[in-house]
Amino acid sequence: MLKFHQQCLDCGTIYNNSYVRNCECGGLIPFKYNDTDPEGFPDRSFGDSPWKYHQVLPLDDLDYAIDLGMKKTPFLKSKRIAEAISPDRPMENLYIKVEAVQPTRTFKDREAFMTVSRLQELGHNQIVTATTGDSGLAHARACSIAGVKLYIYAPENARERSERMLDEIRSEIDDEYVEVIYSGATFDEAIANAMSFAKKSDIPLEYGFYNQLRIEGIKTIGFEVLEDLKRVPDWYVQAVGSGVGLYGFRKACMERYGVAPRLAGIQPKGCAPMVRAFKGYDDPTEKTVDTHVLGIGNPKLYLSYPHLINAGTVFEYGFSGGKESELAEIPRLLELYHSDGVPDVGLESCTALSGLEHLVQSGAISPDETVVLMCSGGMRCDLPEELADTIT
Ligand SMILES: Cc1ncc(COP(=O)(O)O)c(C=O)c1O
Ligand SMILES: [Zn+2]
Repeated sequence: MLKFHQQCLDCGTIYNNSYVRNCECGGLIPFKYNDTDPEGFPDRSFGDSPWKYHQVLPLDDLDYAIDLGMKKTPFLKSKRIAEAISPDRPMENLYIKVEAVQPTRTFKDREAFMTVSRLQELGHNQIVTATTGDSGLAHARACSIAGVKLYIYAPENARERSERMLDEIRSEIDDEYVEVIYSGATFDEAIANAMSFAKKSDIPLEYGFYNQLRIEGIKTIGFEVLEDLKRVPDWYVQAVGSGVGLYGFRKACMERYGVAPRLAGIQPKGCAPMVRAFKGYDDPTEKTVDTHVLGIGNPKLYLSYPHLINAGTVFEYGFSGGKESELAEIPRLLELYHSDGVPDVGLESCTALSGLEHLVQSGAISPDETVVLMCSGGMRCDLPEELADTIT
């Protein structure tokens, strides 16, 4: 029997042994695993690496399992944030999952280890991606380690940021395997150019929500949390860009316990197309970007939105306004994380915390519920100069 297959949620078509992003009918095709053995899960011979979950990851031959040096990340019980965001009745079970300790300092390494391993197993020695930052960095390092050529399409306006980020790990990037192509004025244009290059060159396109391998890789966050918590939390709260993180966490819970947590997707108020759609705006896609949170600051209503809505996701703003409000609010949010023992915190994670605070204060999340707050990565070069002192 095959270890796994992909099956369309809409029409039931089954896909095996090739890289397919979505069904011919347009439906989502999640991976399904056959005959898993609960006794051997997780496989402790893999130590603390996410490969210990290999029984439910889409790889046939573990010789292709790329080791990026990832370890299980900290899972902290919050005290300070739990009190600060709910002063009358502190939250009893608020936890923080800390991903800045990953090799490229965000949870995107968890997508890269899976995507690159499986595509290499399928015989691909080239991959195309489109990114404005974190996922490109993670895939660039993974491809350098695996010896797979990566073409990164990024918009012209992300050039300076991309270069500064790549500089952070330049010694780990092999120029023979990584080529960055700045193409298009906007992220949408860069994506379109990546797609046409991938099609013309017959190279798989690794990008966004429809790369099911990303969802499988990020799912390992959920497994780690479930191991520590020993049950499904009531809520999983994360800054949302493509929706891979939210969906992957939910999939882990469904696979292990058959129970879904509530999902909260947070976007900065100055660029929040999903939140605007959720709150009923007719035209949710914003024309301007008024945020410093560039890791998720794309004025784009991703195709994942309907799937996240079907999964019962609640969307909420982080911060009370655009850039000006962010400047005023970020120092306190950083300080709260720091006093809960999380030293390296990026602006996406500040956004998530701000959104969580709104949800608790509006009563959408109750203080006695069990909540996992995702600290998805460390501080990049996006911190405005005015705030530089607050993180030293
Ligand atoms: C640090 C960080 N946090 C959150 C996100 C959003 O995650 P997702 O794309 O899975 O929604 C991203 C990237 O998009 C990110 O780089
Ligand atoms: Zn289908």
